[in-house]
Amino acid sequence: MTILVTGATGKVGRHVVHELLRAGHSVRALSRFPASAKLPAGVEVVAGDLSNPDTLIPALQGVTGLHLITTGAGYVPLTTGEEIIRIAEAAGVRRVSILWDGKKGTVEEAVESSHLEWTQLQPVDYMSNVMNWRESIRTEGVVRDLFGASLNASIHERDIGRVAAAVLSEDIHAGQMYTLTGPEALTVPEKVQILSRFIGKDIKFIQLTEEQERKRMAELGVDKGVIDYVINWYMNPPIEAYTVNQTVEQITGRPARTFAEWVEEHARYFK
Ligand SMILES: NC(=O)c1ccc[n+]([C@@H]2O[C@H](COP(=O)([O-])OP(=O)(O)OC[C@H]3O[C@@H](n4cnc5c(N)ncnc54)[C@H](OP(=O)(O)O)[C@@H]3O)[C@@H](O)[C@H]2O)c1
Repeated sequence: MTILVTGATGKVGRHVVHELLRAGHSVRALSRFPASAKLPAGVEVVAGDLSNPDTLIPALQGVTGLHLITTGAGYVPLTTGEEIIRIAEAAGVRRVSILWDGKKGTVEEAVESSHLEWTQLQPVDYMSNVMNWRESIRTEGVVRDLFGASLNASIHERDIGRVAAAVLSEDIHAGQMYTLTGPEALTVPEKVQILSRFIGKDIKFIQLTEEQERKRMAELGVDKGVIDYVINWYMNPPIEAYTVNQTVEQITGRPARTFAEWVEEHARYFK
């Protein structure tokens, strides 16, 4: 089975690639910039752009499994879902895992009305989102965030990769939508405490106002629609965002990794 992984150079996609290789699949990776993809030996890297679906025709030749992201540059939802799914069906793809980005878009709509065996993966929040705090932790020993009281059952990206690989390898997941969480729900100050412990320095939490957070994200170049969406999501999180479930363990046979495990693996980036 050849599986095409989109978003393969991203935080989740790299794990999807790794886990598929480990499971013995032949893996093809899509990137707009194949020359700088830096993927493991044995992965066939091909050029393609999800916003320009015709570029997927050669990439999907001989592919029977597909891992699909649903956003393009700047996390803006793709508007090309219908064409992507039509091209995938015509190419002979049978099984698809979809990395949902929080609300139903063109990819989900198209796949649900297709003949493909699809599974939607709905991770609530990535542990790696704390990388946004890296610079201020390194230079000032502080974390500034709007969402101090918000509880979040963030998930380790590797666990999403393991679930995606299982879903693409087994025939028991068709038509399922899996909400994926980590093993605990934590507030921002609780995460900051864990970071302090593993990095070995005191880190202070500073609560931002909504206006300050909007300004901070705009300065990072985040699209206005994405800013509205993110702020609304964290201020009014869906119940799934802070309700721990066992789906990762049920699908992969291993408990979901803790935030402390994530920090231990990534502590060097914050020093
Ligand atoms: N962060 C969260 O908490 C969270 C939670 C749930 C879901 N998500 C969703 O997870 C998805 C992936 O996130 P990530 O953090 O793994 O990604 P990431 O690290 O930000 O990387 C983005 C990936 O998307 C690819 N990409 C962007 N535009 C593309 C296009 N037009 N055509 C083809 N590939 C394109 C990039 O590939 P190249 O640059 O190599 O082309 C790269 O591999 C996103 O859809 C996001 O909305 C995120």
